[in-house]
Amino acid sequence: MKALLLAADAFAAEGSGVKRNVRPATSIDAMSGKNIPVGSIVLLGAPGAGKGTQAKLIAGHYGIPHISTGDILRDNVARGTELGRKAKRVMERGDLVSDDLVNGMVAERIKQPDCDRGFVLDGFPRTVAQAEWLDKELAAKAGEKRPTVVVDVDVSYNQLLQRLTGRRTCPVDGKIYNIYLQPPKNEGLCDVCGTQLFQRVDDTEEVISERLKSYERQTKPLEDFYRKQGRLRRVNGEQPVEKVMADMFRAIEGGAAAAGD
Ligand code: AP5
Repeated sequence: MKALLLAADAFAAEGSGVKRNVRPATSIDAMSGKNIPVGSIVLLGAPGAGKGTQAKLIAGHYGIPHISTGDILRDNVARGTELGRKAKRVMERGDLVSDDLVNGMVAERIKQPDCDRGFVLDGFPRTVAQAEWLDKELAAKAGEKRPTVVVDVDVSYNQLLQRLTGRRTCPVDGKIYNIYLQPPKNEGLCDVCGTQLFQRVDDTEEVISERLKSYERQTKPLEDFYRKQGRLRRVNGEQPVEKVMADMFRAIEGGAAAAGD
């Protein structure tokens, strides 16, 4: 852990180029994404790639729900539901929760009326079996207007470690910070509501290592799954948040930055 933190300190001292809460004007700002028939968006990427950060921005821009299977599971763990009890130990080890449990959770969520115009899935699918299930579910869902857009957020291993060990989250509004890359204005406190930030229990060096192994073994094959169907779009996730976001919107709307299949 010490080595990781020292490496992270060195990186932070050099400066990451990330400007906190600064969003440069882009042509995208001029458009209202809320009128676009979005459909379903899947964000792929390793733990710490920035899926949650980008999913919140996408959801806000298009006015669609952000569905994070990790958040739903953590909420169930916190409330001590049956689902939460089943998932708790698996998540603490850094393994994947069973496909049946997660598929059931997603089925319930995407049935809700706020998903009719579209939704962004963060952390789902994570196995080929989940992806096959999702395709069938969406094909059966009445009113599905656009084929699912799949965007892979690409980030190098060293950057992932720094992002995961440095992540802090607000328990009230879910805002995500990073003590090295995107620190809050006041140490340990949310910029928006002033609440004490927390570190996720699975963001320890040991569990991070297991999560990255699970990703390589079970989730990475999804890139091939979607690539073979000509559905995979990629963005370079190792840029400032605002730049990733701009590339992401282009990828979703089928523009130039959608290259990389
Ligand atoms: P989940 O909550 O989905 O975790 P994850 O996939 O490991 O992804 P993370 O939330 O860790 O990272 P992220 O990509 O969202 O990055 P973030 O935006 O936070 O899953 C947790 C567990 O639940 C799993 O291990 C599994 O057990 C279970 N689970 C969930 N879904 C499942 C499924 N479908 N099937 C089975 N089990 C499932 O960013 C990370 C950090 O980087 C932050 O500090 C942020 O501030 C910073 N950052 C983000 N973008 C940038 C940038 N561009 N530049 C600099 N810093 C950045």
